[in-house]
Amino acid sequence: MKFSRQLTLAAVVALAAVSCGTGSDTPIYKDASQPVEKRVEDLLSRMTLEEKAGQMNQFVGLEHIRANEAHLTPEELRTNTAQAYYPGFPADTIEQWTKEGLIGSFLHVLTIEEANYLQELAMQSRLQIPIMFGIDAIHGNCNCPDNTAYPTSIGLASSFNTELAYKIARQTAAEMRAMNMHWTFNPNVEVARDARWGRCGETFGEDPYLVSRMGVESVKGYQGDMDSDDVLACIKHFVGGSQPINGTNGSPTDLSERTIREVFFPSFKAGVEAGALSLMTAHNELNGIPCHSNEWLMTDVLRGEWDFKGFVVSDWMDIEHIHDLHATAENVKEAIYQSIMAGMDLHMHGVYWNEAVCELVREGRIPESRIDESVRRILDIKFRLGLFEQPFADPQTTMDVRLCKEHRETALEAARQGIVLLKNDGILPLDAKKYRKVLVTGINADDHNIMGDWTAAQKPENCVTILEGLRMIAPETEFVFVDQGWNPQEMSQAKVDEAVAKAGRCDLNIVVAGEHMFRGNWSKKTCGEDTDRSDLDLVGLQQEMIERIHATGVPTVVVLVTGRPLSVEWISNNVPALINAWEPGMYGGQAVAEILYGKVNPSAKLSMTMPRSVGQTQMIYNHKPSQYFHPYVVKPSTPLYPFGFGLSYTEYEYSDLSLSSEEMSADGSLKVSVKVANTGKTAGTEIVQLYLRDRFSQVTRPVKELKDFARVELAPGEEKTVEFTITPDKLMFLDKKMKPIVEPGEFIVMVGSSSADKDLLTASFWVK
Ligand code: BGC
Repeated sequence: MKFSRQLTLAAVVALAAVSCGTGSDTPIYKDASQPVEKRVEDLLSRMTLEEKAGQMNQFVGLEHIRANEAHLTPEELRTNTAQAYYPGFPADTIEQWTKEGLIGSFLHVLTIEEANYLQELAMQSRLQIPIMFGIDAIHGNCNCPDNTAYPTSIGLASSFNTELAYKIARQTAAEMRAMNMHWTFNPNVEVARDARWGRCGETFGEDPYLVSRMGVESVKGYQGDMDSDDVLACIKHFVGGSQPINGTNGSPTDLSERTIREVFFPSFKAGVEAGALSLMTAHNELNGIPCHSNEWLMTDVLRGEWDFKGFVVSDWMDIEHIHDLHATAENVKEAIYQSIMAGMDLHMHGVYWNEAVCELVREGRIPESRIDESVRRILDIKFRLGLFEQPFADPQTTMDVRLCKEHRETALEAARQGIVLLKNDGILPLDAKKYRKVLVTGINADDHNIMGDWTAAQKPENCVTILEGLRMIAPETEFVFVDQGWNPQEMSQAKVDEAVAKAGRCDLNIVVAGEHMFRGNWSKKTCGEDTDRSDLDLVGLQQEMIERIHATGVPTVVVLVTGRPLSVEWISNNVPALINAWEPGMYGGQAVAEILYGKVNPSAKLSMTMPRSVGQTQMIYNHKPSQYFHPYVVKPSTPLYPFGFGLSYTEYEYSDLSLSSEEMSADGSLKVSVKVANTGKTAGTEIVQLYLRDRFSQVTRPVKELKDFARVELAPGEEKTVEFTITPDKLMFLDKKMKPIVEPGEFIVMVGSSSADKDLLTASFWVK
């Protein structure tokens, strides 16, 4: 890092003292003993219009600008959604604006040194308003080097462990604050029902209820009590971007209001109710109106219906895209006008904003009071997070927090709980005495790609690859490794031949296949942001390799590393064991090996259905009753593996599903209980799922909807009774006039181990 001045700890302390004086002429806004509202109003009253516009704007970091200036063209800048620089505005200009108090926030600042340096510049400005640093800390702050990389959200959701989601968010907040970062662009609470879309991995999957539960705990974990050890959460992307036409990121979304309200809104509403204080709008247009200029979304629903108290941030270049992509504004200034008047508060990111905002106010098109509203919301967060008192982080102690033992242990535990065992003909757990010589191959066998999208390159010692995990867990086994490289699109036929030849001479084969999502290889990825697929098959020579290895007759186990469901029907029909590890994070290799060798009994359940082929899209479990009235011809209409499905090394038996009553009043409640027994020989954790169906209703309702779940630990032979409570909110839907209603009539209760009918016990009750 080449900053002109590196901050010493003494300088950090001295500067912090300057920025929060306590003497008698200390302005109210610098007096920490004053209430936040008073501090906000005092500061606002001192600000020029230019300074206000600056608080509403964000820039990418200096190092980011410098790196990109060197290799990107303006055309690449226009289309690339991970990189940026500002042609004609070099990093020095950005530094100058920071000193002048014209920049309120930065993103893509990747080191504590740079964050402190920029903050030092902000402390030279007239009002010394601290910078708020935003970062995509999606599964830990591992988009920056030297931070804990937890599994991505799709795997975390497969644990159905909401406490774990909370814990990871808390730990991430601590690592962020240790780097002087204050605002994570997470959780992504979109409901992902189209596996072609490359961003499924950063969501909690396909079910609105599970997404809401995981999202709420993440928000609470990040934000804590919104103090100096917490960070601001950002629920995103509002809304519908997870279901773009043809599955391509940012393409139009066309959804009925019923579907928006029943499927896509609940997780956002839950996030707002949990206290989320920032929200990011989505790239896409929704029913003909870009989300970034959508007054219905940002103002009527978010503020009017849900009483959202935080601020709205735009997504990458999306205000500009109102003009240059959606073409509903004739120029960028008009786009900015539309966006602000629809409810936008903060602009990610760019150089024309400040000038345009000031002009629009001076021309009388935007009232200054509207600008004040947004600035108030932003300053409120800066005060609450203690930025005025603590604008810097301490480089001497930063590594006491980041990657500390406790965080690493959580990353390992989360990986263990999120890896899904899909098929096991009895070969697993592996017997190390039987399989002495084991072939390991596949693009994800020995690669840091297992950490998933939104991960920067990390030091080798901070990631255990699957091969390393196997060697660690089964030291007596001879692992024969054939490296297929990391790039599925450029696999070598010779390497495949070599693996096949060696496979026949081993006792067992482990093929680690799947997708490539490392952002550092942006244009070569097959999964992740802006990386959408028109099929869901294994890319490159992977399928051929698996089939040929299987044909050797030596037993073959397939492990998938992926950020999206893959259609692996042939593999599922042919190989004896199949695991979906999702993107298991820094200790994914160890966790996969522990599961393969039975040191850990798998417990995860799919947070997203795995289809047989892309043609089944959307293969969701909570579809409407008429969905397969006319089933597909030639191929089945059932998924390969349904939502909620996952195997264990033990067996669970469900019995005695009972209800506390056969009737429930529309404002009452009802208890559901079921017995779950571990009838096998291994201790395990079963994820018990409760689904409901409204039998007859005035509008069509899904065949089942997840309404509760519980993780139950069971020793061999142990039986437990699991109890759920059904409350009216779980029965509610929108009537013909779009009003919430609990309708009298019969409801079916389904409890079991997956969303598949055969795995569920049923009972019913009546709402009177
Ligand atoms: C993504 C956002 C992300 C932002 C900043 C955009 O391309 O859609 O989710 O927060 O970039 O990295």
